[in-house]
Amino acid sequence: MNSSSSLLTVPIGLLKIPEYPSGDLSGDDLIYLSLVIPTYKERDNIDRVVRILSELLDQVLLGKYELIIVDDDSPDHTWEVARSLISEYPQLRVMRRQQERGLSSAVIRGWQVARGQVLGVIDGDLQHPPEVLLQLLQKMEQEADLAVASRHIEGGGVSSWSAMRRFLSRGAQVLGLIILPGVLGRVSDPMSGYFMVQRRAIANVELHPVGYKILLEVIGRGKVGEIAEVGYVFCERKEGESKVTWKQYLEYIHHLLRLRLSTGRLGKISQNMNFPLGRFLRFGLVGLSGVFVDMAVLYLLSDPTTLALPLTRSKILAGEIAICNNFLWNDAWTFADVSMHQNQWRQRLKRFLKFNIICLAGLVLNVLILNLVFNFIIPNRYIANLIAIAVATIWNFWVNLKLSWRVTDVK
Ligand code: GDD
Ligand code: MN
Repeated sequence: MNSSSSLLTVPIGLLKIPEYPSGDLSGDDLIYLSLVIPTYKERDNIDRVVRILSELLDQVLLGKYELIIVDDDSPDHTWEVARSLISEYPQLRVMRRQQERGLSSAVIRGWQVARGQVLGVIDGDLQHPPEVLLQLLQKMEQEADLAVASRHIEGGGVSSWSAMRRFLSRGAQVLGLIILPGVLGRVSDPMSGYFMVQRRAIANVELHPVGYKILLEVIGRGKVGEIAEVGYVFCERKEGESKVTWKQYLEYIHHLLRLRLSTGRLGKISQNMNFPLGRFLRFGLVGLSGVFVDMAVLYLLSDPTTLALPLTRSKILAGEIAICNNFLWNDAWTFADVSMHQNQWRQRLKRFLKFNIICLAGLVLNVLILNLVFNFIIPNRYIANLIAIAVATIWNFWVNLKLSWRVTDVK
């Protein structure tokens, strides 16, 4: 940071928080609390939020805290308004993200540049009552690893939610308890976006959040021992509007399943064996979709009631179209994290060609193994075929992993 009104550089790469804050921090101006305020279209709230938070924290942590606004390039230029406040509030830092999006990753990007020993988050729309920060701080000073502001304990609540929204919110919590009891069972309000955590509890862990619920990620992957809770009432918004839509519900379920897979028993095994289980499952699912595409095209081209083309020609086309289908899904989903950073047309084309060649080799392997197993080991063509398909799938996955998308262990 050279000039007082410059924006923070956005960290890139893995969402991992360093164990020690970077930069030259001399002993006496150590920062205790770094509070991240994620914003998207909060132009009309932002100066009030910064003023209220600063007045409050100045009383207890003067010079020992920082506010980090992480704005996702809001079309209403929230980041610009925020930047204009820096001269008045020197503890304020502002990040404008243009490449990435999403509440959870915004919070983590903010924590990555944080200088404090305690990392916190609060909404930028004043729905989280600021006074509660003092209680959260107190819990952190009493050595909690995590202090969560909760709507569901004494002193907590929601001001005027409709019965429907309450029901959905509770339903989501019950679902979470079923899928991920070890995480959701530890706090009364696992959906809270208002909390503080010790840096050491989440440093050096790779975080992979989806959507809104960053707290799940912190409890699920962090080394969180003692958890404290403080009640709060979720206030109504005065300016702007909530960004929650049905999409957030889907993302929430996705997030639960992902955490379950990677931190559950299966996840532990796959980690120990260094096997990318989640990716393999996605790859398998995509493969299955390819079977349906292949069948459908084969029907359209070769069935006597449709185009009635010769079988071999139809099958070659059907197979190739299935390969295209699989490639598109794998590139956009299974290996999304890799292809995101290599998205030029030439790079895509290269991956596509490699994928084609590897799958073709997979097909040859498939036929070979089918014959081998059927003739020499198990004289049942369907069992032999299943074994052949399994081997070819693993081949396809592994070689594509290493060659087409080049996922290596060194990052
Ligand atoms: N940077 C960034 N990027 N910020 C975002 C994004 C995004 O994609 N989406 C939302 N925000 C910011 C908003 O500007 C706001 O400051 C905060 O995140 C919460 O978003 P809202 O849209 O206001 O969510 P809500 O009012 O429904 O609150 C829900 O989420 C909170 C998460 O912080 C509830 O589940 C709360 O309990 C929870 O605390
Ligand atoms: Mn809100």
